[in-house]
Amino acid sequence: VVRNLYLSVDPAQRGWASTESNYSDTVPLGGPMRALAVGIVVRSRDATVEEGDFLYGWFGWQDYSLADRSKILTRATLPLPLSAFASVLGINGLTAYLALTGCGRPRPGDRLLVSTAAGSVGSFVGQIGQKLGCHTIGLTGSEDKVGRCLNRFGYHEAYNYKTVDLAAQLAQSAPEGLDILYDNTGGAILDTALRQMRVGGRVVQCGTAAIASWMPPPVGPRNEREVLTRRLTWSGFVIFDHQAALPAAMATLSAWCQQGDLVYDEHVSDGIQHAPAAIAELYAGDNQGKRLIYIG
Ligand SMILES: NC(=O)c1ccc[n+]([C@@H]2O[C@H](COP(=O)([O-])OP(=O)(O)OC[C@H]3O[C@@H](n4cnc5c(N)ncnc54)[C@H](OP(=O)(O)O)[C@@H]3O)[C@@H](O)[C@H]2O)c1
Repeated sequence: VVRNLYLSVDPAQRGWASTESNYSDTVPLGGPMRALAVGIVVRSRDATVEEGDFLYGWFGWQDYSLADRSKILTRATLPLPLSAFASVLGINGLTAYLALTGCGRPRPGDRLLVSTAAGSVGSFVGQIGQKLGCHTIGLTGSEDKVGRCLNRFGYHEAYNYKTVDLAAQLAQSAPEGLDILYDNTGGAILDTALRQMRVGGRVVQCGTAAIASWMPPPVGPRNEREVLTRRLTWSGFVIFDHQAALPAAMATLSAWCQQGDLVYDEHVSDGIQHAPAAIAELYAGDNQGKRLIYIG
């Protein structure tokens, strides 16, 4: 039995709650909302888990969770604050690190474009890309967040995708083309950036926040010609396929945080009543960092 402390709020929950086809089963009506959380074990019949252990796993938006081993992603034992296990050491940091390094294959000097750049995943992609020697270009939805990309997350360049002429700006920022597009939105940002990719470029499809519904399938510019002529590699990434890689990735991210090489912001509300509206706030761009609900 786990008593939840930090509930994770994730854009993916919109898809998990939808009946449209997805990579996971639809959350049943009347059941607790599927969610990751950090909690403390209050009762255990499993010899490997003791009362008082802190765990990060599939504990749902609820005060208590009855969990078996399959629900546990990791133990929260490294020397960072507990909430970090639901942010930088949780799926946001792990996705940023594993998708960028595995699918983006960054090399020093690469031009790396990141959408949702000031968000949780995006802020880590920018910092990790910079650490690996890339020239980082962030896209976000307000002037305030552009400032945070530049001043807090160290992006070399950042732009408000709502006001900039994106095609013209990308031609100026990456005159020889983008090597990596780390895309969390799909839609217009993706369509524009694909036309500025360099031959041999890599597109990491991590999220599709700009597409409100996939039924009926949205129609946009045809992109297969760009993939062909630019010889692009377009990779879909889902963190849940990478369980075996998580411990090493967590250790790397934790070390970077402790060295001060990786900063992380958390946007925490107190009380489970804030959870449902927090998803809508994510899609409105109102969050400043990883969205969490504290219910300790
Ligand atoms: N594939 C995986 O395994 C995996 C794992 C974790 C997360 N993700 C994905 O990573 C992305 C970021 O997740 P996160 O938890 O770090 O959230 P986040 O970036 O902290 O918050 C979501 C952000 O998306 C932006 N956004 C919302 N609607 C948009 C639209 N129509 N067009 C462009 N941007 C929009 C908003 O920022 P602006 O103000 O900048 O618009 C908002 O702050 C999501 O797409 C999520 O699904 C994927």
